[in-house]
Amino acid sequence: MNTTPSSLKICCIGAGYVGGPTMAMIAKQCPDIDVHVVDLNQTRVDQWNSSDLPVYEPGLDEVVQEARGRNLRFSTNVDQAISEADIIFIAVNTPTKYFGIGAGRAANLEFIEKCARKIAECSQGHKIVVEKSTLPVRTAEAVKRILNSAAKGATFDVLSNPEFLAEGTAVQDLLHPDRVLIGGESKEAVERLVQVYARWIPRERILTTNLWSSELSKLTANAFLAQRVSSINAISALCEATGADVDEVARAIGTDSRIGPKFLKASVGFGGSCFQKDILNLVYLCEHFGLREVAQYWEQVVVMNDYQKRRFSERIVRTMFNTVSDKKIAIWGFAFKKDTNDTRESAAIHVCRDLLEERARLVIYDPRVPESQIRSELEMAFADLVGGLSDKHKKLIDANVTVATDAYAAAKDAHAIAVLTEWDEFKTVDATRVFEGMRRPAFVFDGRNILDRENLVKHGFEVHSIGRPSLAHI
Ligand code: NAD
Ligand code: UDX
Repeated sequence: MNTTPSSLKICCIGAGYVGGPTMAMIAKQCPDIDVHVVDLNQTRVDQWNSSDLPVYEPGLDEVVQEARGRNLRFSTNVDQAISEADIIFIAVNTPTKYFGIGAGRAANLEFIEKCARKIAECSQGHKIVVEKSTLPVRTAEAVKRILNSAAKGATFDVLSNPEFLAEGTAVQDLLHPDRVLIGGESKEAVERLVQVYARWIPRERILTTNLWSSELSKLTANAFLAQRVSSINAISALCEATGADVDEVARAIGTDSRIGPKFLKASVGFGGSCFQKDILNLVYLCEHFGLREVAQYWEQVVVMNDYQKRRFSERIVRTMFNTVSDKKIAIWGFAFKKDTNDTRESAAIHVCRDLLEERARLVIYDPRVPESQIRSELEMAFADLVGGLSDKHKKLIDANVTVATDAYAAAKDAHAIAVLTEWDEFKTVDATRVFEGMRRPAFVFDGRNILDRENLVKHGFEVHSIGRPSLAHI
């Protein structure tokens, strides 16, 4: 490498929820580094170049605005970006494979392999290739083999630098990460990447490890986090059966400094593009290495999550006199958590599908998710393995799903409200106005335990939350 840090050029393949925000932050913090983010998806690139970014994250607009046009570019010129760069990040998607060997568990590494081949084809000189995507352990070995066997004279170092940001808090997570993890064999290459992050992150928070520890740590971190949510959700079922209150239990155990208070919020179930996919990936790896009991142990986290989502829709049906057929149910929130427009694996998709199967009429409102995205998620939920949607299911969705523009409109004439995302605006709705517009009894199913139950009951609602006794006006 003949460049000095001040003329460093970075390219990132994949302008998604990870590639976009992480590269925008590097560009913001390092004005002298040229950052070029590329993607095959022209629409996504156009959105990154507009005032309407494809990813909603508090504070992201400002970060992008500061750097875009200065040292941050978004384009579809993959070949050019690779050939100019010293460091190439791969931040493409690695979804669960739904076909062939390992279907339903293994990560689909097709896009990673395509990137490696493209990098080999377009590179000259020496390049540092950084795995930013979440990958199974020892993927770097495959990436290295592809790079070296397809290279046209170029040489490569491969590093693992998994991303730990959570959606909805990406900007803060990138500004002040608990740690940055960099795994690699070449000390020089590792140090080169350390130098980039060290511009704004204290050195002691930049951990360096071997490649395999870095790859495995990312899967393990997500498995541990998801396990906490499934653990508290398992206890929420027991609370509902016994009269204990899960929020009180969470507070009581969370004050034990060995357990800690975070990630103990009982909910309708975890969602998002990472937890389920990464645990299943871990399960597949364990099975591959013949570790059956270890695989079963981790799989239970996902089994528990499926149970929690199903349990919530069953509770709605049971409470509403065992039928929701032709009843209007307002769905408040469709994103997998607040402060994001991402709906991948959102618990809302599963609950809506269950309720539609029971022939409920749904009116869905989410402050950040557009109607087209809600419809396409529901269509995928009813589709078969190869994406085919039957006429029957298409009609079911078209006839029974409406999308509203605010929470009040969604609740108008409804028999029930189901809160599926913890958006702050739901906490401050005018309870009188909502109640007046609804049918009686006016049911509220709070899948996030965010509403003020006592206040709602005073207004006449019957409130059912997760892991807490139900409340109704007597
Ligand atoms: P995403 O689907 O939002 O973005 C991936 C992008 O890569 C897409 O825009 C796609 O068009 C592009 N792409 C795919 N193949 C390409 C190719 N060959 N050339 C150019 N572009 C290509 O995915 P994401 O949520 O950003 O996740 C990316 C990776 O980061 C995954 O491995 C994920 O597990 C990991 N991760 C995600 C999060 C998160 O919160 N979303 C957090 C940490 C890690
Ligand atoms: C997760 C990891 O947190 C992050 O470090 C990793 O890089 C990517 O995957 P993300 O999926 O964006 O991030 O969101 P996260 O905040 O972890 O929430 C995941 C799901 O768990 C959401 O549906 C959330 O609502 C749910 N959750 C989280 C709970 O139900 N209860 C909790 O206490 C915490």
